Amino acid sequence: MKPQLDHYKAPARWLHWSVALLVLGMLPVGYLMVQEGLSRPVQNALFLFHKNTGVIVALLVAARLFYRWRNPPPPLPRSLPLWQKRISAWTHGLLYVLIVLMPVSGYVRVRAGGFPIEMLDAMGIGTLLPKSDALANSAKSLHYAGAWALAVLVALHVGAALHHALIKRDGILQRMWPARD
Ligand code: HEM
Repeated sequence: MKPQLDHYKAPARWLHWSVALLVLGMLPVGYLMVQEGLSRPVQNALFLFHKNTGVIVALLVAARLFYRWRNPPPPLPRSLPLWQKRISAWTHGLLYVLIVLMPVSGYVRVRAGGFPIEMLDAMGIGTLLPKSDALANSAKSLHYAGAWALAVLVALHVGAALHHALIKRDGILQRMWPARD
């Protein structure tokens, strides 16, 4: 029988999977909505989804960072080689940087471009930025580069999780699995 590893607490697991699912939706929707040849209504619907779901992602990421600060994650098993612990720390750190960068650069791109974010507007939260094409364009480039970096890191992260679950069978994925007894 395998030893039971320390696992993440329920809020950390739920925050992880809700952010993961939303980010996995945001990447293809973002990519799709900027393609040429879409009808106006479809493009508008995708933009509406993307901008407003992005606000929810930002709130969940803020909650996640706060929770992690108050509740440090369980240590990795001692059996894991040092190089794997280092790669894991770097990948997770960069994933956090990118899930902060994406909503922030998206927000700046939209607000500095002078466009609405319907959810914030409905709550009476006006823009925090002046209109500036230069700022909007820089944010757009950052958002684009961040999206590719995020897609690569997510692929690495999922690959590593599957490797642990299916090949090494060492219980690492179970530490973060939402359903526990
Ligand atoms: C985790 C959060 C987010 C992810 C993963 C994400 C992902 C993406 C991706 C993949 C693209 C396509 C980039 C390209 O190929 O040009 C994109 C474009 C875009 N995103 Fe996001 N996004 C996020 C959050 C946001 C937020 C919060 C907003 C605004 C409130 C936003 C607004 C936009 C806009 C306006 C574009 C089109 C940029 C342009 O071509 O002008 N995004 N996003």
